[in-house]
Amino acid sequence: MANILLINGSTHKNGFNSQLLQHIKTIFNELNQEVKELEWQNIPIFSQDNDYPPPPSVERVRRDIIASDALFFITPEYNGFSPGGLKNLIDWLSRSINPKNSRGESFIHNRITAVTSAAAGGGVAVRHTMEQLLTFIRTQVVNEHSCGVTIKEQDWANGTLTITDDEKIGLQRFVQSFLNAVKAKEAERFNPML
Ligand SMILES: Cc1cc2nc3c(=O)[nH]c(=O)nc-3n(C[C@H](O)[C@H](O)[C@H](O)COP(=O)(O)O)c2cc1C
Repeated sequence: MANILLINGSTHKNGFNSQLLQHIKTIFNELNQEVKELEWQNIPIFSQDNDYPPPPSVERVRRDIIASDALFFITPEYNGFSPGGLKNLIDWLSRSINPKNSRGESFIHNRITAVTSAAAGGGVAVRHTMEQLLTFIRTQVVNEHSCGVTIKEQDWANGTLTITDDEKIGLQRFVQSFLNAVKAKEAERFNPML
């Protein structure tokens, strides 16, 4: 079975995106796909001075990414972009595995990726900017049926994310597209003639 990691861009305990992550996890499980959540929140700010070898927290995260096939990001929108912490994580992962070849494959190279968000307006801006970033670092972005969840008026007041039936259908379709891409790549790996 493919190794799929969910990556929460939020550090906000029980925030809207953590709630969305739980919903996404349920969708994967209903499609008989196990997923794990990447633990990354304690990594330091990237510095080229401690890139190789990296601090143990980064080493562990890089190892988890190397072992993965695909990454599904669930992230807040900060001023139209991802939060700085998530960008920092991606910078650590975008480095070459081989320190002697800075143009070589990175830790995240070629992973299948997708982005959703709980934000005002469904996170249209952050989904777009994240997809640009993930394309730039040579991952295979799936955005067919891309969708997010709009944080509603009452949600801001009570801290609970409401996901409408239409949004649930959209998310289901998006996760299914992502899984189709993961499975197609797996099939290709086992039968390179495809
Ligand atoms: C620095 C900052 C910038 C923000 N910018 C946006 C934004 O561009 N669009 C948006 O929808 N919400 C924005 N918000 C509000 C977030 O959607 C809100 O804080 C939300 O709770 C973040 O998601 P979380 O609860 O999953 O952490 C911003 C919040 C912060 C702290």
